[in-house]
Amino acid sequence: MWGRLWPLLLSILTATAVPGPSLRRPSRELDATPRMTIPYEELSGTRHFKGQAQNYSTLLLEEASARLLVGARGALFSLSANDIGDGAHKEIHWEASPEMQSKCHQKGKNNQTECFNHVRFLQRLNSTHLYACGTHAFQPLCAAIDAEAFTLPTSFEEGKEKCPYDPARGFTGLIIDGGLYTATRYEFRSIPDIRRRRHPHSLRTEETPMHWLNDAEFVFSVLVRESKASAVGDDDKVYYFFTERATEEGSGSFTQSRSSHRVARVARVCKGDLGGKKILQKKWTSFLKARLICHIPLYETLRGVCSLDAETSSRTHFYAAFTLSTQWKTLEASAICRYDLAEIQAVFAGPYMEYQDGSRRWGRYEGGVPEPRPGSCITDSLRSQGYNSSQDLPSLVLDFVKLHPLMARPVVPTRGRPLLLKRNIRYTHLTGTPVTTPAGPTYDLLFLGTADGWIHKAVVLGSGMHIIEETQVFRESQSVENLVISLLQHSLYVGAPSGVIQLPLSSCSRYRSCYDCILARDPNCHILSGPLPQPHVVTSLSRAWERASLGR
Ligand SMILES: *[C@@H]1O[C@H](CO)[C@@H](O)[C@H](O)[C@H]1NC(C)=O
Ligand SMILES: *[C@@H]1O[C@H](CO)[C@@H](O)[C@H](O)[C@H]1NC(C)=O
Ligand SMILES: *[C@@H]1O[C@H](CO)[C@@H](O)[C@H](O)[C@H]1NC(C)=O
Ligand SMILES: *[C@@H]1O[C@H](CO)[C@@H](O)[C@H](O)[C@H]1NC(C)=O
Repeated sequence: MWGRLWPLLLSILTATAVPGPSLRRPSRELDATPRMTIPYEELSGTRHFKGQAQNYSTLLLEEASARLLVGARGALFSLSANDIGDGAHKEIHWEASPEMQSKCHQKGKNNQTECFNHVRFLQRLNSTHLYACGTHAFQPLCAAIDAEAFTLPTSFEEGKEKCPYDPARGFTGLIIDGGLYTATRYEFRSIPDIRRRRHPHSLRTEETPMHWLNDAEFVFSVLVRESKASAVGDDDKVYYFFTERATEEGSGSFTQSRSSHRVARVARVCKGDLGGKKILQKKWTSFLKARLICHIPLYETLRGVCSLDAETSSRTHFYAAFTLSTQWKTLEASAICRYDLAEIQAVFAGPYMEYQDGSRRWGRYEGGVPEPRPGSCITDSLRSQGYNSSQDLPSLVLDFVKLHPLMARPVVPTRGRPLLLKRNIRYTHLTGTPVTTPAGPTYDLLFLGTADGWIHKAVVLGSGMHIIEETQVFRESQSVENLVISLLQHSLYVGAPSGVIQLPLSSCSRYRSCYDCILARDPNCHILSGPLPQPHVVTSLSRAWERASLGR
């Protein structure tokens, strides 16, 4: 069967790999060939950290104190962000007791991989404390940790509402104004949910008569400060990215779709949501979700998402890495798409989907929409009508929210297509930062981690992406689990099963000449390679860089 499918799939992959006017640039697949390959043996300027633990998956950078905090299996570490390998680290040993581990094993879990305390959550709680949660041999626990002393407290907090039981489950969590916003599959039964805890108004998603989430695997969440400079008194929002079973596809009962097709989604909630008073009590009243399209039907499994400019919502955008849908098990390929927050907002302001009992199918809802618009945040105009919080919303609106969590229109990528399609690569994580060149323009610089321990550094140029270099950061093939950029330390930190690696953001000395550096299109190398040239030289170099970048 694969013999026949291969040529078809290859033709689909390459046909779409040619961007825009092909005269101006070589095919995208060619362009995506990294200009430089740095194998493990040629790595330079890197620093390493490896303790007794495994699975260094959770990273928290604290720029102000120049610490990199790491959550691993059975341990937490506080490393110097300047040099993670300087030997002056602090460590917290936090393992599940042998009794806990054997109980976990008795429940049928694997005592070689699952019955440990995998630290999954690590964030700043307040000016003095950090907050951490671990899977704790399938009995999650959380702790407020004195950041200065860096020791475990004497008492712990229940973790089952905040942390997955299963260390391999997708998880994302944020602390916002002291409240914990986590999304994962909770409890022994792995129930997907978006929850708010450690907050006067605990909230979760609705399960009756319809599940708002279906076998969701969470990838990423971010707070977007949409209240800042808002003319309408808008609320801040938290956006969630995940893959889930598409109940809207195929027929089936209202709650139980037979579809096994999984699709990518973006969902959002309002920070000021207090839940409903009678209907949707202790549930989100502002939950809405939409399909996220990159390159369907091939690439639908979301692997990593990063946000840029989340502080200024008018400029906020996201990059997402997808791999092939699960039916293409034996093939490896990845796609990268960019999304603008404005497009996501437009989809959430558009038509809803509805389950139609007659046809037993989901379809676009064509009926009247009650006021205030279901799923919206409380704004000035609602306050002026007497809706001071979500608890004042009319029953009609909340009943509508219960049955219409899904939007009709999907979110499409910027320019309607992927920035990159790449065969034989499985991206597992990505992060990015804008970089300003001396001539003025700003470019997004992305770092992508692969399933076999490589980092691709790429710059986004209009409708495509150029991979500046690929670097093998681990000798043994292993999955890159986390990536964090520090502009202050000019470093990229990589979390993986065997340890943490610190790499310079750019190593311009590798380029033998300025010409090489321009051809490699590394925006950092203008600023950082050697002594700064005269201003007119900088300007002409930047122009040359842009010409090279645009392929003219
Ligand atoms: C896991 O359980 C097996 C069977 O009970 C036991 O022989 C083994 O020593 C256990 N391994 C660990 C690491 O606890
Ligand atoms: C920070 O939170 C911890 C744990 O809840 C608490 O003990 C501590 O007093 C808080 N510190 C401040 C400065 O609020
Ligand atoms: C932990 O690391 C091991 C390899 O050392 C890997 O096989 C396993 O999948 C990792 N577990 C998690 C939950 O990431
Ligand atoms: C909303 O707040 C205003 C001003 O505080 C108050 O007069 C009004 O009664 C409140 N409305 C509700 C429904 O609570």
